[in-house]
Amino acid sequence: MDEHRATEYLRPDEASIARAAALLRAGRLVAFGTETVYGLGADATNARAVAGVFAAKQRPRFNPLICHYPSLDAAFAHVAPNDAARRLAESLWPGPLTLVLPRRPECPVALLTAAGLDTLAVRVPAHDVALALMHAAGRPVAAPSANRSGHVSPTSAQHVMEGLGGRIDAVVDSGPCTIGVESTVLDLSGAEPRLLRPGGATREAIEALIGPVLQRATPGAAVRSPGMLASHYAPRCPVRLDAQDVRASEALLAFGPPLKGAGVTFNLSESRDVTEAATRLFLGLRSLDSEAAQRGLRRIAVMPVPAIGLGLAINDRLRRAAVPRA
Ligand code: TXA
Ligand code: MG
Repeated sequence: MDEHRATEYLRPDEASIARAAALLRAGRLVAFGTETVYGLGADATNARAVAGVFAAKQRPRFNPLICHYPSLDAAFAHVAPNDAARRLAESLWPGPLTLVLPRRPECPVALLTAAGLDTLAVRVPAHDVALALMHAAGRPVAAPSANRSGHVSPTSAQHVMEGLGGRIDAVVDSGPCTIGVESTVLDLSGAEPRLLRPGGATREAIEALIGPVLQRATPGAAVRSPGMLASHYAPRCPVRLDAQDVRASEALLAFGPPLKGAGVTFNLSESRDVTEAATRLFLGLRSLDSEAAQRGLRRIAVMPVPAIGLGLAINDRLRRAAVPRA
């Protein structure tokens, strides 16, 4: 079942980008950096290639993928924007904002990409290498985060190789991601804008442009953004939130001046900067998870992070990392 493939490691020069684009056009799987996290890319119009993404990630089929485009015009050729979408895209693209909009009837994106929904999530990443790759490929690129389903999202090519090496065809190493949490997902397909996933574009920035947005799905409502499922970001080690103290048997994910007495500490931001913390979040969870395993620590204790700016996205990921697993 798990077919082994040699994973080509590519540098972000012109020849490698051409090579990566050729792989995408041939239906292969290519991971690449964006400003948020590394994506696992496939030609979004090629259902077989997209199926390969789900397989490599071992991702549940019902979880729809984001389609990446090199420009606003390219994206809006495939989905029908309303006024709010145009306003947001004009000021925040390229950038860490994903818009869910109705597909146009002529949209060539494979249905599997959006897991059969009549909407499509689109975004233009703010990343030169990613944009160059999409220009060269000449196709929309479906790309979930380049990790196995349920694991922590990768913010470096090395993280991608750790999770997916041998399961994908190439990774383009463009260095560490500058934002470090995924894009904000905003559903504009209904009567009112709804925030499905907090992320790199702040709610404040969005509301300044289009006014108030609804928060996620109301509790009990059908899950509209399956990536919102609990326990999506899962270190192996149990996670304890809002730590006010810490034990020697615990690893500490600190924010600001660290609590004393932990077995090992990773500081998201000594200076209490939520933006810096976002760039270090997944790295911190990964490294504490492996340190905890090596040292026989029982838990990761997490100091509180304020829910302002990117702090909202950070808290969302932390809450899901803390959901108990069977
Ligand atoms: O920053 C990002 O968004 C990264 C980089 C690679 O661009 N990508 C990413 O993709 O995080 P992924 O697949 O891990 O998360 C996509 C999110 C999920 O929560 C999914 O349920 C939601 O977007 N989504 C995608 N298409 C949707 C749709 N048509 N309707 C509602 N939610 C959708
Ligand atoms: Mg993901």
